[in-house]
Amino acid sequence: MWLNIKSFDEYKEVYKNSVEDPEKFWEEYAGTFYWRKHWDKTHSGSFEEGNVKWFEGGKLNIVENCLDRHLDTMGNKTAFIFEPNHPDSFRRTISYRQLHEDVCRFANVLEEKGITKGDRVAIYMAMTPELAIATLACARIGAVHSIVFAGFSAQSLAERIRDCDAKMLITNDGLRRGDKHVPLKDISDEALESCPTVEKVIVCQRTNRDISWVEGRDEWWHMLIRNASKKHEAVEMDAEDPLFILYTSGSTGKPKGQVHTCGGYMIYTSYSLRNVFQIEEEDVYWCTADAGWITGHSYIIYGPLLNGVSGIIFEGTPTYPDPGRFWEVCEKYEVTHFYTAPTAIRALMKEDIEYVDKYDLSSLKVLGTVGEPINEEAWHWYDEEIGNGECPIVDTWWQTETGGIMISPLAGITPTKPGYATLPLPGIQPALMDDEGNEIKDTEAQGDLVIKHPWPGMTRGIWGDMERYQETYFTKYPGNYFTGDGCRRDEDGFYRITGRVDDVLNVSGHRLGTAEIENAIDEHPKVVESAVVGYPHDVKGEGVFAFAICDDGIGDPEAFKKEINDLVSKIISPIAKPDKLQITTGLPKTRSGKIMRRILRKVASGDTDDLGDTSTLLDPSVVEDIIKGKAY
Ligand code: PRX
Repeated sequence: MWLNIKSFDEYKEVYKNSVEDPEKFWEEYAGTFYWRKHWDKTHSGSFEEGNVKWFEGGKLNIVENCLDRHLDTMGNKTAFIFEPNHPDSFRRTISYRQLHEDVCRFANVLEEKGITKGDRVAIYMAMTPELAIATLACARIGAVHSIVFAGFSAQSLAERIRDCDAKMLITNDGLRRGDKHVPLKDISDEALESCPTVEKVIVCQRTNRDISWVEGRDEWWHMLIRNASKKHEAVEMDAEDPLFILYTSGSTGKPKGQVHTCGGYMIYTSYSLRNVFQIEEEDVYWCTADAGWITGHSYIIYGPLLNGVSGIIFEGTPTYPDPGRFWEVCEKYEVTHFYTAPTAIRALMKEDIEYVDKYDLSSLKVLGTVGEPINEEAWHWYDEEIGNGECPIVDTWWQTETGGIMISPLAGITPTKPGYATLPLPGIQPALMDDEGNEIKDTEAQGDLVIKHPWPGMTRGIWGDMERYQETYFTKYPGNYFTGDGCRRDEDGFYRITGRVDDVLNVSGHRLGTAEIENAIDEHPKVVESAVVGYPHDVKGEGVFAFAICDDGIGDPEAFKKEINDLVSKIISPIAKPDKLQITTGLPKTRSGKIMRRILRKVASGDTDDLGDTSTLLDPSVVEDIIKGKAY
């Protein structure tokens, strides 16, 4: 049985089997869950048709598999440790039994408020256990949750709520992140002005600040759960029923609502966590992501609970109250598995090493990274200073669309190489494509990364726009799933992700569409047109560089930049603010009117010696002006 791959030889054998007979491979793992009814068909559909299905006809509830299934054997085991924003605030642990009760109570509340199977519920909350409870309660009653990262603006929240016609919003009065306060209820109120489908708002108390209240629409979480029963029968779902929608940026301005389903997602998150991290029963697992991103969905909420692991929910930031915060938490809870983003590592390695040295990190067994390429310097610092050279590093490549980790070392099993996500998980068949759309068969190669065969955790669609789903993922390389990433494969067949090949930026591990940011900048009355590109940034990985053509009279450029940044923060989120802004008289456009971003990227990264062929530009003299211009 390959449930837990235990050696590199076993990995190779299991991998081979998974390619030869994918259905048999996934059936074996799927068989370890609790199904109310066995599935009829293991796999159907294809990339060509954009209609992939797994375990159709199988009946289950993912929350039964996360919680109910464990009650007899580990009811008293800790499911979540909650570590608040400030280390001196109230912290708590929640057992599997307690979490089950809390989820059942809230599931009853949701049903009482008229939410039923298939309804969409938006969640816009602080990183506290209630976020997980709200999420799981939705899944328990078959409502489709749509978590929106609590750093998004009112407009972004509204856009996401409207896109899926959510019937309810669950939020907090506010949240604290580091020394900042975010008034979530105020932001929600503003968003809901343009969201007519939302009938009810449930507000969970966190900051106890004054908030406004809409009688008949708003209700307090703590009042609602007071009399709710702790017994609840989970609603039976088909494996292919939607479990959640999660919005992510693409190369157009509109975020894409990725739809994940109950059965396939359950199998894939459980499988990937177990094998990549080599988790065992007594381990304490900490993923520092926010549940508003896919990493939090898969590896804070669902994956750990499906595996009966104790996980940490962390409300804070890496540097508050000081840059030793992560390591203090690791020591306090004897964390064994630590999973974070390269951006956090790069920021913390700039700090005094004292912040690491004063904590005992000997409990750590495995270190993970996710979300963006990790540079070798950061990899080595993580390995030596945090892992003491003894903890395997799993550099995990995956996407919102993939549901779970796709290419990564298996901890302690796959040899690691700094900067390399190494090898695909069994069941995953990556390939590299050349410019002509052919698969590159040479081992050593560079090309666009595609996946050749469907896997259970993959996105089943873009909410309300299956045409865009087909166009984005399955058109450029017919018969394959196109990831949007470029990739290199070395002589050992190890994969190294080189970054996006489309108009998507990866800023501090946050995925942002250039068009989204441009649309926001263009809202400024003095901006005529803008173009946004990424450039190498030593902490964020990629920074946002905006070029803008403006009307005369912008005044002080620094002050103007602040206006632009405030606008982008208001329309999207502070994470999308330009790091640099250059006012320009023109943009390098081809005769067909397309902006040649290649040139802007070179200028933004200060690499203007060889700009390549500029002869197809409508007005090549623009380039000279841009090179001479000044960025603020
Ligand atoms: O470019 C890749 C990068 O993040 C993108 C996916 O972003 P998102 O959907 O927000 O999911 C992030 C968390 C899974 C990918 O297309 N990316 C993710 N992991 C890595 C990575 N780039 C390099 N190395 C990684 N380990």
